[in-house]
Amino acid sequence: MLMQAASPANIQRILEKLNTFNSDQAGGTTRVLFTPPELEARNYIKKEMIDLGLSVREDAIGNIFGTLVGTEPELPPVWTGSHIDTVLHAGMYDGMAGVVAGLEAIRMIQASGASLKRSIEVIVYTSEEPTRFGLGCLGSRALAGELSLEQAYSLVDAEGNLLPDVLKELGYDLSRFTDIAMPQGSVHGAVELHIEQGGVLESLGLPVGIVHTIAAPTNFHVTVSGQQRHAGSTPMHLRHDAFLACCEVSLKLEQLAKDSSSPDTVATVGKVEVLPGAANVISGDVQFTVDIRDSNYETKCSLVEGMRQFVRTVEVNRGVKITLEQINDDLPTRSDERIIAMLEQACQEKRIRYHKMVSGAFHDSMLVGRFAPIAMVFVPSKDGISHSPEEYTDYGDIALGTDILAEALLQMAQN
Ligand code: HGY
Ligand code: MN
Ligand code: MN
Repeated sequence: MLMQAASPANIQRILEKLNTFNSDQAGGTTRVLFTPPELEARNYIKKEMIDLGLSVREDAIGNIFGTLVGTEPELPPVWTGSHIDTVLHAGMYDGMAGVVAGLEAIRMIQASGASLKRSIEVIVYTSEEPTRFGLGCLGSRALAGELSLEQAYSLVDAEGNLLPDVLKELGYDLSRFTDIAMPQGSVHGAVELHIEQGGVLESLGLPVGIVHTIAAPTNFHVTVSGQQRHAGSTPMHLRHDAFLACCEVSLKLEQLAKDSSSPDTVATVGKVEVLPGAANVISGDVQFTVDIRDSNYETKCSLVEGMRQFVRTVEVNRGVKITLEQINDDLPTRSDERIIAMLEQACQEKRIRYHKMVSGAFHDSMLVGRFAPIAMVFVPSKDGISHSPEEYTDYGDIALGTDILAEALLQMAQN
């Protein structure tokens, strides 16, 4: 069943309105979980859902569900959607493109007059980015039953606010936290549209990607304790420099990732805090983040083990103490072959060339895949740039991806 094409103008309208809810002062997009701009953006999306005639509800962690009710609403629904929170000083498409594409797909399906057996739900997942609480995919993690209220109490922001306290202050009912998790089979299928955030589609000159595997992160918070000393009067052989220990571990991580047998292995030290942070003082304490990813769990584990062993030698050689606090150790997620086939069929029917690929970025679909069949539609990122104000995706490309998304959602909702 081929529907009318998605409207780039409609997609642009909603994305640009969303981008007005923004605390960035330097020309990018910053919309941090449960800050005023994000709460305003949530209300705006809920209004767009209501304008589409969807019923709107939220669960106890703030996942928003806009539902187009089918003729047999008791059947497991079909899901689409993504996130509207961002990293700091980001672009305006990461996550938002998938929420807007979901709304546009619903509009197209309604306009087609097609009858739906299953309900279709557009979801705004809470806190896909780790920006505020240091762990990504909080809403979808809770949906997957991988974030209990007790675990949520371990999540603290930079101001010392606990996630459950923030939720309670916003009126969410924590006694309902246990209701969030979705049982196996409770969702018929879930397809998320997302910008690629890399340069593969652009380099191939293709407008659509179909994701077969989502690489998964293992994240650490690392603390190095050395000896804070005078930068001028401390001879090199007597130093226990915490920053240089951090550098040595960072460079080893880079080498381990480069030497990996898997092309999808990446390792990043994205945030470093050097104390006391003075030009004439040898750092005694350093805190830094480690983000290791792969599409293959075993390969990722062997890199993590290599890092652990190397850390022990740095401790001995430099006379420092290094503590590795593991935050998460996520499993890569494979897309469902039947949904992939639907997406491929839609591309073939519409004569849209596509590429089947790995997602190096993680997404809410990585966790939704724990309880439901999933797949993802990628649209190209200009110059492969993301997590930057330079992030850009052509509205026509988002519309093309939405055409594919809508066909798969409709097909699943009618089966
Ligand atoms: O980090 C990621 O992969 C995602 O963009 N949050
Ligand atoms: Mn992101
Ligand atoms: Mn994202």
